[in-house]
Amino acid sequence: MIQVLDKKFEVFITKEELSREVASLGQILNEDYKGEEVIFIAVLNGSFMFASDLMKEIDLISEISFIKMSSYQGTESTGRVDELIGLKNDLKDKHVVIIEDIIDSGITIDKINSLLQMESPKSIKTCTLLYKPEAFKGQHKPHYIGFSIPNAFVVGYGLDYDEKGRNLDAIYQIKEENKTGFQLNMNNNTDQMLNIVLFGPPGAGKGTQSTKLMEQYGLVHLSTGDIFRANIKGETELGILAKSYIDKGQLVPDEVTIDLLKSEVLKYENPKGFIFDGFPRTNKQADALDAFLKEIGTGISQMISLDVEEEELKTRLANRAKDSGRIDDADPEVIQKRINVYRSETAPVKEYYADQNKWMKINGLGTVEEITSRLFEAVASL
Ligand code: IMP
Ligand code: MG
Repeated sequence: MIQVLDKKFEVFITKEELSREVASLGQILNEDYKGEEVIFIAVLNGSFMFASDLMKEIDLISEISFIKMSSYQGTESTGRVDELIGLKNDLKDKHVVIIEDIIDSGITIDKINSLLQMESPKSIKTCTLLYKPEAFKGQHKPHYIGFSIPNAFVVGYGLDYDEKGRNLDAIYQIKEENKTGFQLNMNNNTDQMLNIVLFGPPGAGKGTQSTKLMEQYGLVHLSTGDIFRANIKGETELGILAKSYIDKGQLVPDEVTIDLLKSEVLKYENPKGFIFDGFPRTNKQADALDAFLKEIGTGISQMISLDVEEEELKTRLANRAKDSGRIDDADPEVIQKRINVYRSETAPVKEYYADQNKWMKINGLGTVEEITSRLFEAVASL
C-alpha cells in the first residue's frame, strides 16, 4: 500500500501486466494500420508514460505529437475543458490515433475529437490505456482499450492525484476507508463514553481546566492546538502548514483539522472519553465530529462553555505570552484577529450543541480552583 497526499492506494495493475498489455496494443495497431501512415497524438500530461512505451512497439511510418488539454483537478471531473494546445502537424487526409491514459466521463475525448475533426483527417481513433465504462457518458468510445476498469480513482504510470503519483511504475487504485473498521480498536462500551467539548474564546482557560478534568475523570485530553504546536516544533509537514495559519491568527483549514482529530481519537484503545479542547471550532467541524463519533458508536455528552468577557481575555493572553512563548499570544493584532474569528466562526458552534440540548455555560472568572469546582459540578450533573 502507498500513500499519495492524503489518500491510500493499493496496486491494481502491475508493471508486468502493463508492459504486456502495452506490447499487445502496439501489435494490434501495427496490424490495423499496416502500410498506412499514422499520426499519433498523445494527450498530456497523463499519457506520457503510456505513449513512450507504446511508441517503442510501433513499426509504422509515423509521427507523434503531444497536445495538452486539462479537465481535471482532484478526484472528480470538474467538467471544465480547456483549449487544445501543441498541435503542429498537418492532419489533412491522415490517420490519427489519439493516445490517452484514461477515459473517464468522456468529456475530454469528445472535445479533442471535435477539435481534431476540424483538421480534416482521414480517420480518428482513440487508443486508451484505461477506460471506465461505468463513468463514460461521451459520444466517442475508445477503439483500442488496454484495461476496462471499475469507476474508482487510480494513479501511477502517468496518472496523477493532484499532480502527485505520475512517476509510479504501476497503476494503483484508491483504497476506500473501511468505515466499520473504526470499531476494531475500541471497546464495546463506546456508548458509555463521556465526551466533553470544552468551549470558550482564546484565553478562557480551556487548556488549564482540561487538565483538571482529565485527572478527575480519567479522560483523554485532545487539544488540536497543542497537537499543531507540537508539529510546528518538530517542523513536520503538518506543522509547517499549520504555522502559516496560526501565526496570523487564522484557523487551520477544516479538512486538515478534522483528519488530524480523527486519527488522534483512533489512537486510543479503551478510552473512558475525551475532552475536546479547541475543537470543534466551526459548524463544519462539529458536523464532522458528530458523524465520526456516531460511526464509532458514541457521541458528544455535553459542550461546556467557559464564559469570560473580552477585556479579561486580552489581559490573560498578554500575561500568558510572557511565559508560553506563543507568537499568537504576543501580538495584540493577532489576539484581536483570533477573538474576531472566534466571534464569527466559532461562537455559532454553541448553537449547534444548544439545538441538541447539549450546551451549558459556567462562569469562567475567578481563581483556577473556583472555576474547576464549577466545572466538576457541571460534569457531575450530566
Ligand atoms: P474525462 O474527460 O472524464 O474522460 O477525464 C479524463 C481525464 O480525467 C484524464 O485525462 C485524467 O486526467 C483524469 N482522470 C479521470 N479519472 C482518473 C483517475 O482515476 N485517476 C487519475 N486521473 C483521472
Ligand atoms: Mg489525461
